[in-house]
Amino acid sequence: MTGPVGRALVELTGVRPGDDVLDVGCGRGAVLFAAAEATGQTGSVLGFDLAAGMVERTRADAESRGLSTVRVEQRNAQEPDLPPAAFDVVVSSLVVFVCAAGHHHVRGPRRPAVGVADGSLPGA
Ligand SMILES: C[S@@+](CC[C@H](N)C(=O)[O-])C[C@H]1O[C@@H](n2cnc3c(N)ncnc32)[C@H](O)[C@@H]1O
Repeated sequence: MTGPVGRALVELTGVRPGDDVLDVGCGRGAVLFAAAEATGQTGSVLGFDLAAGMVERTRADAESRGLSTVRVEQRNAQEPDLPPAAFDVVVSSLVVFVCAAGHHHVRGPRRPAVGVADGSLPGA
């Protein structure tokens, strides 16, 4: 579930204990669970994904691991509807190319997934 790529991305983005992290297109949690390890009990991780099945299974994994700081929700990166300045770090692994290529479950292939950056980070 947490592989070397997830851990490497978390390390590269400088996630620290206590951070509130957003994982866009979290899938089965490769980055989500690595971020949860890095943020610890004082931080939080919200992962969201467009695919209901991914959300369901990843949420169940988080629950079975007793990770109370992790939330997994169904949202669309193109219209995430998140509160402004809510996160210290936003990560997204292997998702932008899916949006850009017009994957079958993305409605507007020409609309980039920039909604998350518009107001989710302090000063954005
Ligand atoms: C290749 S997987 C990567 C999953 C995970 N980030 C990882 O690194 O293992 C791409 C994920 O992006 C999700 N996705 C694609 N378009 C999305 C969108 N517009 N909003 C949210 N998630 C999206 C897909 O459902 C899929 O779970």
